[in-house]
Amino acid sequence: MRMSNTEIEVILGDITQMQADAIVNAANSSLMGGGGVDGAIHRAGGKSILEECRLIVNRQGRCPAGQAVVTTAGNLPARFVIHTVGPIWLGGQAGEAEKLGNCYLNSLKLAIENDCRTIAFPNISTGVYRFPKEEAALVAFDAVSTFLRSNTDLEKIIFACFDAENHQLTKKKWNC
Ligand code: APR
Repeated sequence: MRMSNTEIEVILGDITQMQADAIVNAANSSLMGGGGVDGAIHRAGGKSILEECRLIVNRQGRCPAGQAVVTTAGNLPARFVIHTVGPIWLGGQAGEAEKLGNCYLNSLKLAIENDCRTIAFPNISTGVYRFPKEEAALVAFDAVSTFLRSNTDLEKIIFACFDAENHQLTKKKWNC
């Protein structure tokens, strides 16, 4: 599927295997790693990613929800890892949707700033942070499609879903 001149691909698979200029990590504010996709990226990418995260935190403090930072991708096939911190689901009345949308927007902006042409996203916040998957897929669709209406620099955006439910919901949102 294409939107403006950017190809959208929705796959079921491990984001650490993605051949993209940047892969996005669903991190926590400490940027010191964790479980889920955070753990997978640090395990596969190696300690250079954590070392750069530590330098970032020492320089600018913890990463607030909705914000994003960029590091090396270490041993991963990607060039960069963009670490973004999704909102923890608190019932939907604490600005979670806006913060989640900002995760996608700020990650896309960082990708463009670093001359990336392809970027892969996990389903941010839909695991440990318990954001309902269907609403998260809609937030992701709205944020990314809004960005693409005013930015044509990206060749491809990949949604790397790790479970069948997210895969089905994300494919449905993007009609692909
Ligand atoms: N590739 C792609 N997606 C993955 C992978 C992987 N290798 N591993 C997990 N996922 C998926 C999960 O199935 C889920 O759909 O990533 C999505 C996000 O889930 P989490 O990784 O749990 O992230 P999140 O819900 O944003 O919670 C972030 O969890 O791991 C900790 O340090 C992290 O504290 C932070 C919190």
